[in-house]
Amino acid sequence: NSILRVIVKQVTGSLPQLTNLRVLEVGGGQGLATRELLPLLPSKQTNYTFTDVGGYFLNSGKKKFSGYPFIDYRFLDIEQPPSEQGYESHSFDVVIAANVLHVTKNMDATLHHVRSLLAPNGLLLILEITEAALDFDITWGLLMNPLEDEERSLGNPFLSKQQWREVLLRHGFVEVAAFPEGESLGQHILVGQASMPDTLSAPAAFTVPLDYKDTAGPNSQALLDKNPDMAEWFYVPSWKRSTTPLPFAAKEQASQPECWLVFVDEWGLGAQILKRLELEGHDVVTVRIGDQFSGNNKLAQSQLAYTINPQQRDDYDALFKELLALGLRPTRVLHFWNVTSHEKTESGLAAIDQAQAKGFYSLLFLVQALSTQNLVDELQVTVISNNLQSVTGEELLSPEKATLLGAVRVIPLEYPNIRCRSIDVLLSEGGSWQVENLVENLFAEFSVNTPEPIIAYRGMHRWTLTIEQVRLDEAFEGISRLREGGVYLITGGLGTIGLALASYLAQTVQAKLVLTGRSAFPAKDEWETWLNSHEEDDEVSDKIGRLKKLEKLGAEILIAQADVADLEAMQQVIARTQERFGQINGVIHAAGILGDGVIGRKARKDAESVLLPKVRGTLVLDEVLKTFELDFWILCSSRASVTPLAGQMSYSSANNFLDVFAHHETVRDGTFTISINWGSWLGSGMAVEAAKKLAQTQLPQTDSDDWDKDSAAPISKFKVDFLKDGVFISEGIEVFKRILGSNLSQVIVSASDLIAQINDESIYRTLSNIEAVEEPSSGLSTHPRPDLNNAYVAPRNEIEKMLIDIWQEVLGIGQIGIYDNFFELGGDSLLATQVISRANKTFHAELSVNSMFEIPTVADISEQIKNIRLTTQKQQDFTDATLGKRDEGVL
Ligand SMILES: NC(=O)c1ccc[n+]([C@@H]2O[C@H](COP(=O)([O-])OP(=O)(O)OC[C@H]3O[C@@H](n4cnc5c(N)ncnc54)[C@H](OP(=O)(O)O)[C@@H]3O)[C@@H](O)[C@H]2O)c1
Repeated sequence: NSILRVIVKQVTGSLPQLTNLRVLEVGGGQGLATRELLPLLPSKQTNYTFTDVGGYFLNSGKKKFSGYPFIDYRFLDIEQPPSEQGYESHSFDVVIAANVLHVTKNMDATLHHVRSLLAPNGLLLILEITEAALDFDITWGLLMNPLEDEERSLGNPFLSKQQWREVLLRHGFVEVAAFPEGESLGQHILVGQASMPDTLSAPAAFTVPLDYKDTAGPNSQALLDKNPDMAEWFYVPSWKRSTTPLPFAAKEQASQPECWLVFVDEWGLGAQILKRLELEGHDVVTVRIGDQFSGNNKLAQSQLAYTINPQQRDDYDALFKELLALGLRPTRVLHFWNVTSHEKTESGLAAIDQAQAKGFYSLLFLVQALSTQNLVDELQVTVISNNLQSVTGEELLSPEKATLLGAVRVIPLEYPNIRCRSIDVLLSEGGSWQVENLVENLFAEFSVNTPEPIIAYRGMHRWTLTIEQVRLDEAFEGISRLREGGVYLITGGLGTIGLALASYLAQTVQAKLVLTGRSAFPAKDEWETWLNSHEEDDEVSDKIGRLKKLEKLGAEILIAQADVADLEAMQQVIARTQERFGQINGVIHAAGILGDGVIGRKARKDAESVLLPKVRGTLVLDEVLKTFELDFWILCSSRASVTPLAGQMSYSSANNFLDVFAHHETVRDGTFTISINWGSWLGSGMAVEAAKKLAQTQLPQTDSDDWDKDSAAPISKFKVDFLKDGVFISEGIEVFKRILGSNLSQVIVSASDLIAQINDESIYRTLSNIEAVEEPSSGLSTHPRPDLNNAYVAPRNEIEKMLIDIWQEVLGIGQIGIYDNFFELGGDSLLATQVISRANKTFHAELSVNSMFEIPTVADISEQIKNIRLTTQKQQDFTDATLGKRDEGVL
């Protein structure tokens, strides 16, 4: 149906003003397609005729779609000439037939009738099964009337895609297309455009050419539809040259004095920018790394300087409290703490904690403190780093800085008032013309609001990060990287992806597998006892069953209980492996945990637990594996690294680390290292667990093998978007095979159109995820109204009363007045999101979270809701009036 939606959108999008679109649906039945399409049609410009042979469906349609005033409900038996049933010939621009035409007994007669309804150039949209289901004969075939055309039989009344093309061309359709173009799940959308014979005097449906073929082609299927061509499921990060911001534009924008908060680095790049800012007359507050919070507030405002301990959340609070006391509200933050002298920088395990403090935690605490201090003004945060991005593929990288990227990507999703950018640079000798040039470019960059979130400067050039699709077809056969009887270490080896890839290695090369995880697992000689004393659906029993299958395929298995982030434990795993199997030939790092949660409520330990397996764990592996010559090192990252949802700052950061580490490792010693940004896997595993939480709906409990392609329950069962393009286990393995045969160092796997998703800025994705990862507030009004500058004013009408109820529940405050400022009442951006989400549900409105930042009082929000209602009512009145007139005319 999504393709149908895309085509209908295209049709309505190209509709000239003042033209009415005349749509007829044949055999509307339960209105499944109708329900999808009606919201897309412009109410003032559409006449929709919902037809069926049964009065029951017409009546139920009337009830279901009573909210759409532009629908007519009429009988139509498409097997009989429409003109004999009161339909004017060639009077419709679009005819839709969803899963209905195959039921008619003579397709030639049916299509002749359909064609007679369509205006010249009109469109016929057919949704049909194009492959017979095996059990069709038994369930439906016997109930059908005898078929009169030769192409079909009772056992298979469906036409194939090719047969549809032929039969439509035979019936006066000139442009015929079928979607999807490649492999489908037995269903196609067929689109035919009616010919425009000279002899026909009826006005043409469309005078402009419709390029629906491009719209609905496989590359641009609606968001989250699976692309049937697996070769197109692969994307890579790609850097695009772009122009540096114009210095004069920068000057213009920078002319207003603002308050800049600059976290200066030891190398001195920030200091050079400081000078420029002071010259321009801005208030500049510098923040340096120290042991504790200290500062001198006696200095002039343009010279305020503080030190804070990056590990201390309280220091950030103290800083903002002090700034507020001085009447300073920063509008720009420049964060230079990730600019380090590369030669002097320690990397690896020894330096990881310090690096996180200066990057990830610094940004986390900064945003938390802003929120606590109610600094909700528009803010631009720019995080400057060096040697973080692999732009040329030659840079020596500091992967420990990469976690800041998750923060840059997620903060704006949760705080609509904050714009975040990451700018990565390479440093030349201090004082050189290159550095001067860089400072010039950065200064221009800081002074304007460039839209790109991820930027890099290399030499004279500015680059921005984009995503490109790459084709990995079957020829990318990764088996050549595997050794017969090879020794492979899989961390998180008893998880969904770990076990799936283990089974592939067992099957193809009878591998010797080392599977690790933190949980205890029964030793091999305890398996039978375990199986006998536990139910079949016990999780461990299930895993034992799978391991036994691997052994049958010829694999040898060593299961080791070890936390991948624990150096000593992993050293022991390696020692045991060497003792039993010898050298390790390859590694798959699949250990990970999800742990979503919004920034406002993220405790350090929660963030740490998510970073641990992927950040510290990878560095531990790097340490314990340094003496091995690996054939490959696969890091299981996630699509959340590049397209995170709100609530995923730590998870996205952890995966960004894996991505940069893979580039780093490739450059460092040429080992084939690749970070795979997996999309969702179906059946079990992290995505399914997250989906359960998100949908709060019970997904079918099945053995994950049952979820394999051949026997899968239809994906449409899921309510959760991000599972809709999930991969089956067999598909995941095929994807892995192709990736193993590539020479990339990072690849993003997306069965749906990733680029379209990146461009989808739907605020509701953000909202719904925040709702899902956060428990709703208790609803208890426990606190009295705080002392505010304004007096309490009671609500004056029903809308204000209802809004106050919502505010009271979310804020937990007993009495709230209509002029009280949400943020002065203790609200923060997370609570603002909850308020707007509830208000939208209550009032069927589409307020954005920004409204709370712009107009944070009940009186203002209520005014906005009233305006929305008024506009909707006016539209409704207008439609009623026009339709009413037309009805009179028809009568
Ligand atoms: N499944 C998906 O849809 C999906 C999508 C995108 C990315 N990914 C990534 O792919 C990887 C595997 O995902 P999955 O779905 O297979 O997840 P899973 O079923 O939850 O398996 C993850 C495994 O990692 C182990 N683990 C967690 N922390 C560990 C630690 N500190 N040390 C050692 N083992 C640890 C867990 O076992 P213990 O609890 O016993 O330690 C578990 O068996 C993850 O890194 C995930 O981020 C998965």
